Amino acid sequence: MDELVSLCKRRGFIYPASEIYGGINGFWDYGPLGTALKNNLRDRWWRDMVKRPPLGPDGNEISIVGLDSAIIQNAKVWEASGHVGGFNDPMVDCRETKARYRADHVLCLGVKGESGGQIYAFIEGEDDSLAAARKKLNKYIKRDVADDELDTCALTDLSADELAITVGPDTKAVGTLTEPRQFNLMFESSTGAIKSEDSKVYLRPETAQGIFLNFGNVVDTMRVKVPFGIAQIGKAFRNEVTPRNFIFRSREFEQMEIEWFCHEDEAEQWFEFWCDVRSKWWQSIGLTGDNILMRKHDDDELAHYAKEGCGTFDIEYRFPFTFPGFGELEGVAHRGNFDLSRHQEFSKKKLSYFDQPKNERYIPHVIEPSAGLSRGTLALLCEAYTPDPERASKVYMAFHPSIAPIQAAVFPLVGKDGMPEIAHKLWSELRERWDVVTDIKQSIGKRYARMDEAGCPFCFTIDGDTASDQAVTVRHRDTQAQERIALDKISAFMAEHVG
Ligand code: GAP
Repeated sequence: MDELVSLCKRRGFIYPASEIYGGINGFWDYGPLGTALKNNLRDRWWRDMVKRPPLGPDGNEISIVGLDSAIIQNAKVWEASGHVGGFNDPMVDCRETKARYRADHVLCLGVKGESGGQIYAFIEGEDDSLAAARKKLNKYIKRDVADDELDTCALTDLSADELAITVGPDTKAVGTLTEPRQFNLMFESSTGAIKSEDSKVYLRPETAQGIFLNFGNVVDTMRVKVPFGIAQIGKAFRNEVTPRNFIFRSREFEQMEIEWFCHEDEAEQWFEFWCDVRSKWWQSIGLTGDNILMRKHDDDELAHYAKEGCGTFDIEYRFPFTFPGFGELEGVAHRGNFDLSRHQEFSKKKLSYFDQPKNERYIPHVIEPSAGLSRGTLALLCEAYTPDPERASKVYMAFHPSIAPIQAAVFPLVGKDGMPEIAHKLWSELRERWDVVTDIKQSIGKRYARMDEAGCPFCFTIDGDTASDQAVTVRHRDTQAQERIALDKISAFMAEHVG
């Protein structure tokens, strides 16, 4: 990860936010290449889900419409959605170091101390911290702890008495931890000039609620009929207790969400459909078979809105920091009719739907494929990162050509003999349709190396023969193979390989 983070900074993919002021934990800025990559991922999702959605289980076209709702909504929305009461993480603070931990993310090692009482040390889940916790226990009981003496449990399972004899990862003293407290993840702000309880608002923690709020508007103003979907891409904000792993868990991020409204009897079928569609979609943009899997949530992981018995599926990716395990990329949830029912109850506005063919009025059930755009961008970066000690750049980014931030580069071999003019003409033509750069500076080897790190799949080089044979050399990023191609065949080549 360190190498990837450093490449992202060096090549203009992602920078720490507010860097010149020392940064701000949990926030990131996307540089020119990162923005292009993220936008390509976003546009691809919009094209494949909204403009040209997949065919349904019966082979007929399904209908999905787009939405762009406000980030700040009436505060009652978040009471109805359950976020004010239920969107919490348990956290513990260390009084000595002021560090804060997600109590459900840390594991405790316990062992009987000299006086007979249990002593606990806690760790943050990685192998080396396990060893560190054990070392700490050895110190407290003044001998080596044997494997069969160890007792492992979650920090959240400890009683107050047990917490009082727990030692944190960076402290010397025992008992510096506070009891776990529930911490609401929503960012608060206020509207208007006077700040009071009544002016309190929240930054949305998910884009989904904006969709539920507009369900009635969309049904009334568009010619949609259940089953149909509403899609939205946008920013979401969560005051995560422990933002970490680069852009994997940040406090400001983007989501790509679909709320699929259907009849309760058909929900199970649509749930299967969306799990299948969404996992294939990630594969279609280059996340290969072994690194991606579908996982059903354990019952105790269910979100407050998930329908009991149906659960949620995660589409997970094997990130370097989760290896050999996987981390969530997208959740496909069966939300039942929880959200529309709650908004109907809290707003007192009817949100039921009259289904003409079925001659039945009901509140539709919802299947929700909810993907992280920021997390998806990280998965693409991780998947693309390919060390290759043999080449000048030592590493190349093997993006799928269709989502690469630069899809082709056009280079004049040298800046004379008419080569820059031919390069400029070709670049102007190709950029009408693709993301193409041109560059005249430095040796051709250095220019190729730069494009390898940027993940550009094809470089077209105009050389001394081009003016006479009307052909250029195309260099393939992954194999470094070079071949001659006619100038008037380049567009067709790009259409075939990039799309
Ligand atoms: N509307 C449902 C919902 O928001 P979620 O599982 O909490 O469900 C959906 O979030 C997706 O949003 C996740 O699968 C993940 O990709 C992304 N996501 C959630 N929290 C995130 C964070 N703190 N940083 C980056 N991405 C996040």
